[in-house]
Amino acid sequence: MKVSFKELGLVNTREMFAKAVKGGYAIPAFNFNNMEQLQAIIQASAETKSPVILQVSKGARNYANQTLLRYMAQGAVEYAKELGWKKPQIALHLDHGDSYELCKSCVDFGFSSVMIDASSLPYEENVKLTRKVVNYAHKYDVTVEAELGVLAGVEDEVASEVSHYTKPEEVIDFVKKTKCDSLAISIGTSHGAYKFTPEQCTRDPQTGRLVPPPLAFDVLKAIEKKLPGFPIVLHGSSSVPQEYVDMCNQYGGKLPNAVGIPEEQLRKAAKSAVCKINIDSDSRLAMTGAIRKHLAENPGHFDPRQYLKPAREEMKKMYVHKIVNVLGSNGKAR
Ligand code: G3H
Ligand code: 13P
Ligand code: ZN
Repeated sequence: MKVSFKELGLVNTREMFAKAVKGGYAIPAFNFNNMEQLQAIIQASAETKSPVILQVSKGARNYANQTLLRYMAQGAVEYAKELGWKKPQIALHLDHGDSYELCKSCVDFGFSSVMIDASSLPYEENVKLTRKVVNYAHKYDVTVEAELGVLAGVEDEVASEVSHYTKPEEVIDFVKKTKCDSLAISIGTSHGAYKFTPEQCTRDPQTGRLVPPPLAFDVLKAIEKKLPGFPIVLHGSSSVPQEYVDMCNQYGGKLPNAVGIPEEQLRKAAKSAVCKINIDSDSRLAMTGAIRKHLAENPGHFDPRQYLKPAREEMKKMYVHKIVNVLGSNGKAR
């Protein structure tokens, strides 16, 4: 049985992106796999009145079950209202959909937005598959994110050693032919907590920390020039906060040389046509750091609520920080 996202109280991304591009801020797209992450995302968004995109990856579907995640997102809308957010603007988005069938099943199942990631295919095949997904999704007013260019590292199950920046000369043709609603681009970000090798970085002489190379803002500028006002998406945008890396390492973890995208670069991107910024790894780090710390300090605790509560609080703090101090989406969904 088909269900429309509208019946679930969700919204698609069309209006939130149009406002974000115009207003010079970005919408947070946070991945979730469990209840504590979802609670923290909703609490942070409700408190700051920020539109938010809840992202479900293929890995999340395998881990938590698509049905359960869908009903959790539906519950999240009601929870947001309970927290005093009168008109929650919450989208439920498929992250890195890799087939027409998967995207169709999400559209039929109440998702308000889907990503078809055909970026590893040759250009014409990417166009063809994206167009097919758009044709179906638009019948139900579901918005579609597509991708051009390949991010370095592991893009879900698509392994790639190097990053292939998006070619600005391709974007007009791609958007025209596919009619996608937003475009994920490659300008030097990548997924996970190890975005750059130590060899690609310099070292801060004072702290000894790795300093990553800057993003390719010239490529972003060239894309913006080709597609004025068109919504651009940045994947792999976790900052890998050193406080969480340290917290993990101090309490038994082993995350050597973890490094992310500096926040000032994300702030700069959010002010441009980049209107969706994807963050997953930072939530993983906040959660794991807090759990490690709690268990190390309280070796007798074995009730999951005892260590998941501080983990949830740490994630909420991190989400609020991103919304208010990095993306600037606070107060945009009153
Ligand atoms: O793009 C990757 C996201 O961080 C999702 O990761 O496939 O491990 O759930 P995942
Ligand atoms: P991070 O690994 O940088 O959090 O990126 C997440 C992402 O792009 C999800 O699609
Ligand atoms: Zn991604």
